[in-house]
Amino acid sequence: MNAEKWSLIEGLVREELRGLPEESHDPTTGHPLTVTPFGPDEVLSAIQTLLSTRLTMGERTRAFEAAWAAWCGRRFGVMVNSGSSANLIMLAALVETGRLQPGDEVLVPAVSWSTSLFPVAQVGLVPVMVDVHPESLCMDPASVAAARGPRTKAALAVHLLGQATDMDALGGLLILEDACAAHGAVYKGKRIGGFGEASSFSFFFSHHITTIEGGIVVCDDEDLANSLRSLRAHGWVRERSDRAALEAAHPEIDPRFLFVSSGYNLRPTEIQAAFGLVQLGRLDAWVQRRRANHAAWAKTLAAPDMQVFPEVPGTEHAGFAFAMLPAGPRAPIQAFLQAHGVETRAISGSNLARQPAFRHVPAQTRVPLPVSDAIHERGFFVGNSHAFGPAHGVRLAELLDVWRKG
Ligand SMILES: Cc1ncc(COP(=O)(O)O)c(C=O)c1O
Repeated sequence: MNAEKWSLIEGLVREELRGLPEESHDPTTGHPLTVTPFGPDEVLSAIQTLLSTRLTMGERTRAFEAAWAAWCGRRFGVMVNSGSSANLIMLAALVETGRLQPGDEVLVPAVSWSTSLFPVAQVGLVPVMVDVHPESLCMDPASVAAARGPRTKAALAVHLLGQATDMDALGGLLILEDACAAHGAVYKGKRIGGFGEASSFSFFFSHHITTIEGGIVVCDDEDLANSLRSLRAHGWVRERSDRAALEAAHPEIDPRFLFVSSGYNLRPTEIQAAFGLVQLGRLDAWVQRRRANHAAWAKTLAAPDMQVFPEVPGTEHAGFAFAMLPAGPRAPIQAFLQAHGVETRAISGSNLARQPAFRHVPAQTRVPLPVSDAIHERGFFVGNSHAFGPAHGVRLAELLDVWRKG
């Protein structure tokens, strides 16, 4: 397209999307779960991608993978169409490469997301439910110790709502990270996503940055990365670095259709990668704003009848969302907040062992889950966003005071 035509398109898009991404938000207008986190730069990049007519996974995806891996301090990134898919191929690759055997147990925090838990069982591993710590809402070291048995080989550290898991408690286990909601969180000076044999992230709309839908697995081992690449795309050899050797070992099969793993098709599109490449430039500043909000709100909102979850010492909280645990029933508080424009929701999947779907999951529940139960029954969260500020915490505190006065 010539420069004149492009400048016409660019002008129209910039005019149409003026003010986006939302960089600030007035708390007197409400407190949504999230705001529109992209603007003309992302949309123009998507349009350029569309006009290139190269839409299926290609150069842009590879560029995003390299950039994300570098940001995490990892060697490899394998992008997929969601964080859930990232968890699925991460767990499948661990089994396929023999790092875990079918039937091995994997510790999973009871309070996590549905698709943190389900893929563990889907690839033939046995989830063992672990209670969460009352301050971090991530796996409780005491519960980890109690839940471990002779067949326990791995732990899936789900860094809930941006809080880093206590990684020291997982010694002797193969560590996997679900960092889908913890972009930029830090544990003892090291960025989350750098601890796991493999680690997953989500780029869904409400996350720290977005590719619309999207996710990625990062790791350092080339063999594991190759397995992830095959599992992402039909099980074939095409994106593997050891492709030539595999093709040579099977000269009788058309190399374009040489299948070496029982894979899926979970590929992202180039449009998602185009979004991600622009969003990456916003990431560090946005994480800092979420962190600042989390710290300020934790001070403003803590009360004898309302537990909040400040950053745990030794960690940096990534401020995905702001969790609250009232002493009494949550429903009247949520209804009051909703009536005043504050959106609330349950804390992730709450205690997954109490979800109807749990009957389909061959999991072990051999330790008590009292904190997860409390979260399940009374917990809720409000949204955090780079566009929000300390004033959102002040307004929430004011509203809660009005509610307390009845
Ligand atoms: C901890 C955790 N894991 C996995 C996911 C799934 O990610 P996605 O929505 O991209 O599939 C989420 C989604 O928010 C999450 O919070």
